[in-house]
Amino acid sequence: MTAPLVIAIDGPAASGKGTLARRLAEHFDLPHLDTGLTYRAVAKALLDSGQPLDREALAVDAARRLDLVGLDRDQLSHHEIGEAASKVAVMSAVRRTLVDQQRLFAKNGRGAVLDGRDIGTVVCPDAMAKLFITAAPNERARRRWNEMQLKGEVIDFEAVLADIKRRDKRDMGRADSPLKPARDAHLLDTSQMDIEAAFRAAISLVEKAQSAAHPES
Ligand code: DC
Repeated sequence: MTAPLVIAIDGPAASGKGTLARRLAEHFDLPHLDTGLTYRAVAKALLDSGQPLDREALAVDAARRLDLVGLDRDQLSHHEIGEAASKVAVMSAVRRTLVDQQRLFAKNGRGAVLDGRDIGTVVCPDAMAKLFITAAPNERARRRWNEMQLKGEVIDFEAVLADIKRRDKRDMGRADSPLKPARDAHLLDTSQMDIEAAFRAAISLVEKAQSAAHPES
């Protein structure tokens, strides 16, 4: 019996982890969950109903009502929602509620790809393959700024860079489940790589992890 292939992908904002996770899921024919969308959906529910972002009970309520089916990055990609999500994500009770749902998604028996900030450390500590995707803040800001230009959003590069740095600080500095590589994660710095090179490197790391888990096959 081969163990299900669970691939945990973590990394800071705009590191390319989302694109890599999607492509790995396609390549290995596995379901994919972008866990950032779960925090974004909770934040959007609060913003839409005019509720404050710092009331834990309200946020937990929104997290309990979340349906993982139908989470849509296009509807949740707005900059303001990302900012709000990173505030909601500091609350432990919200994290526990969302992590329970994320674990259920991962334990479907067949394997899965999950990406986020705490997948290798908290959500799926037993994942067969763990990747930590990084890139220099300037490079991440440049990618994010290009994406925004393509969508017609006019924003100053310096503002995007400041936002990335602020988000990193909040994600890495929070007490509960801060962003950090799991001890057994493979680091992949994509600063000097295009997406194709990063994808090839990621496939090779996952294949190595598979061989290590099933040395006989
Ligand atoms: O990856 P993203 O920008 O969609 O994530 C939005 C916010 O959610 C981010 O600031 C941190 C938080 N997040 C988290 O705390 N844990 C995760 N597993 C995923 C995202």
